[in-house]
Amino acid sequence: MFPKPAQRIDQATPFHAIEVAKKAAHLKRQGRDIISLGIGEPDFTAAPQVVEAMQRAAKLGLSGYSPSAGLPELREAIAKFYGTQFQAPIDPRRVIVTNGGSGALMLAALSLIDPGAEVLMPDPCYPANANFILAAGGVTKLVPTHAANRFQLCAADIETHWHEKTRGILIASPSNPTGTSIAPDVLNALLAAVRARNGFVIMDEIYLGLSYNNARQSALVHDDQIIVLNSFSKYFHMTGWRLGWLIVPDHLIEPVERLASSLAICAPTLAQYGAVACFEAETLALFEHRRQAFQARRDYLVPALESIGFQVPAHPDGAFYVYVDVTRHSHDSGKLAEQLLDKAGVAIVPGLDFGPAHSKHMARMSYTTGLDQLEQAVDRMNKALNHT
Ligand SMILES: Cc1ncc(COP(=O)(O)O)c(C=O)c1O
Repeated sequence: MFPKPAQRIDQATPFHAIEVAKKAAHLKRQGRDIISLGIGEPDFTAAPQVVEAMQRAAKLGLSGYSPSAGLPELREAIAKFYGTQFQAPIDPRRVIVTNGGSGALMLAALSLIDPGAEVLMPDPCYPANANFILAAGGVTKLVPTHAANRFQLCAADIETHWHEKTRGILIASPSNPTGTSIAPDVLNALLAAVRARNGFVIMDEIYLGLSYNNARQSALVHDDQIIVLNSFSKYFHMTGWRLGWLIVPDHLIEPVERLASSLAICAPTLAQYGAVACFEAETLALFEHRRQAFQARRDYLVPALESIGFQVPAHPDGAFYVYVDVTRHSHDSGKLAEQLLDKAGVAIVPGLDFGPAHSKHMARMSYTTGLDQLEQAVDRMNKALNHT
């Protein structure tokens, strides 16, 4: 007999996108031509300037531990970036560099959540969120959202769902899986409603760099006391470098740093030396160019999907996702995902991954592949769904 795994393993939320990716990889190995609109990973990779900076640091032997909160020059660059790009200048002391946005979520959850504390999140949302809350001993309460609210929480949801044990909210803008942002006035009212209850706000801004229609503005503009997380994975195209950051209010700097120093010691040092180069003018220009490429893909994909019978009830304004209503083709997005993989060689993620509210009739498609591939994917889905 082996010792039984901890009970929380049974409660952990599974990630079906990974299963779809595994099946797609299997079909690829068998020689099938598969186009992935599944996993949320940019097709661009780290900027050459970043790779060179990392190599220089490695050659100089700068591969020891960094300070737990991150290299001072990186914290400063991030703080400045929030000022120049997201209208929220901050003190670099408030930036804690982490192991990806995931490390930031982990630290935020462990720093804020006592056992039994309830955290409100929109349904749909990023599936891993619930597991960070679970790891901290907290309880996730998913609040069903609707297209009219761009599938985001609003102040009225706080009125309705805030109970004795509720301690805070975890939101993302722009969001995964919807690619939608919270409008500034809605966000302002939402943050005020939580503040009025002495609650915490964990705001995931991992896709803020990839905003298309709106001025890119951090939620810190509305409330300087919230906890913000961000990452080098999406806008900076460095998924495997495992680098992100938290921005915390003054009173949390010391406790979060203390926790970070024992849970991870530090974020990967060589990756941090590379990341400093993200903030040079030439590198930022490259990211802007790539942002525009994502925008062009969105501008193609949304109407193209609508033309073949998918509905897009809330048009995305950020990230690289389209959250589509599949009702015209199927009443079970899980079955549809299987059918599209088998018949069209196109991988998508069924709605189930992002919460129960819209699990059957919604699905997520990522535009993390070039326009030519997107056109082919639309063409193949059209043939598989509309011409059989
Ligand atoms: C909304 C959101 N938050 C956090 C993450 C974690 O990303 P990473 O740990 O690579 O920074 C992801 C990854 O897909 C995400 O979509």
